[in-house]
Amino acid sequence: MLLENRVAVITGSANGMGKATALKFASEGCNIVVNDIQMDKAREVAEAIKAGGRDAIAIKADVSKSEDIKSLIGQAIDKFGKIDILITNAGAAGGADLEHSDEDEWDRVLALNLKGAFMLCKATVPHMKKQRYGKIIMLSSMGAVRPSISVLAYHSAKSGIIGLMKNLAFELAPFGIHVNCIVPGPIETPFWDPLSVGMSEEKKQAFFAALGKKEVPLGRMGKPEEIAGPALFFASELSSYVTGQVMCVAGGQPGITQSMTFISAPESEGFGK
Ligand SMILES: NC(=O)c1ccc[n+]([C@@H]2O[C@H](COP(=O)([O-])OP(=O)(O)OC[C@H]3O[C@@H](n4cnc5c(N)ncnc54)[C@H](O)[C@@H]3O)[C@@H](O)[C@H]2O)c1
Repeated sequence: MLLENRVAVITGSANGMGKATALKFASEGCNIVVNDIQMDKAREVAEAIKAGGRDAIAIKADVSKSEDIKSLIGQAIDKFGKIDILITNAGAAGGADLEHSDEDEWDRVLALNLKGAFMLCKATVPHMKKQRYGKIIMLSSMGAVRPSISVLAYHSAKSGIIGLMKNLAFELAPFGIHVNCIVPGPIETPFWDPLSVGMSEEKKQAFFAALGKKEVPLGRMGKPEEIAGPALFFASELSSYVTGQVMCVAGGQPGITQSMTFISAPESEGFGK
C-alpha cells in the first residue's frame, strides 16, 4: 500500500476528481477528510471509504472563506491528529471576457480558485512543519497556458496557482514539504454542468465526444480516475525527489515548459524583513 496510515484533506471531494482521488487514496491505506459544500454527496463518499475499511470524515467548509478553512483544518486535526497530504482541489469555472467582467465576479472567482489554496496552505503547513513531512497538490487548468475568451478570472486564478505552487515548493522544501501541481485537460465531471444545462444525457455525451475529438490528441475527454493516479504519484513516496513541478494530465495537449530557478538560498529572509 502506497499511503498506509496517511491522512489526506481533499477539498471539493464530493464529486469529480476529488471524489475519485479520495477513493483511490483510501484503497491505498489513507484516511480521508472529505470536504465540500455539497454535504449529502460528501457524506456518501465518506461512508464508501469507511465501508472499504479506512476512516473518513465529511466536513462542510466553503474554501473561499478563511473562517471555514480554519474550522476545516481544526476539525481534521481533532479527528486524526495530523495532516500528511493536502489537495486544494475545490474549484469552479467563472468569469467572462474583459468587457463583461466585473469586480465582484473577479473577487468571487479568485477567492475560490486561488485565495482558497493560499489560505488552506496557511492553515495546514504549520502542522506539516511540526512533523517535517507533507505533500501538497494543487489543481490548475490548461487555461493557465492556453488563453481563451470568456473565463478571464478563472484562467487568471489557475495561472496564479502555478506561481503559488512554485513559490511554496521553494519555501517549504527545507521542511520536507513537497508542493506540486496537476494541470488537467478536459475531464468528464460535474464541472461541465453549467455548459450542458437543459441538454439530454445523449446530447451531453455527444458534446463531450465532440470536445474530446476536437481538442485532445488522444481523441477523448479524460475520466476523473485518470487524475487520481497522477495525484497518487505526487502524494506517495513514488515522488520522493519531486517538488515544484507541474504535471499536465491532458491527453497529449501541449504542456507547460517550466523551470524553477533558485535565485536565493531557501533560508534567505526576503523583502521587507
Ligand atoms: N473538469 C475539468 O475539465 C477541469 C479541467 C481543468 C481543471 N479543473 C479543476 O479541477 C478541480 C476539480 O474539478 P472537477 O472537474 O472535479 O469539478 P467538480 O465540479 O466535479 O467538483 C468540484 C467540487 O468542488 C466543490 N466546491 C465548489 N465550490 C466549493 C467551495 N467554495 N468550497 C468547497 N467545495 C466547493 C463542488 O461542490 C464540487 O463537489 C477544480 O479545481 C477545477 O477547477 C477541472
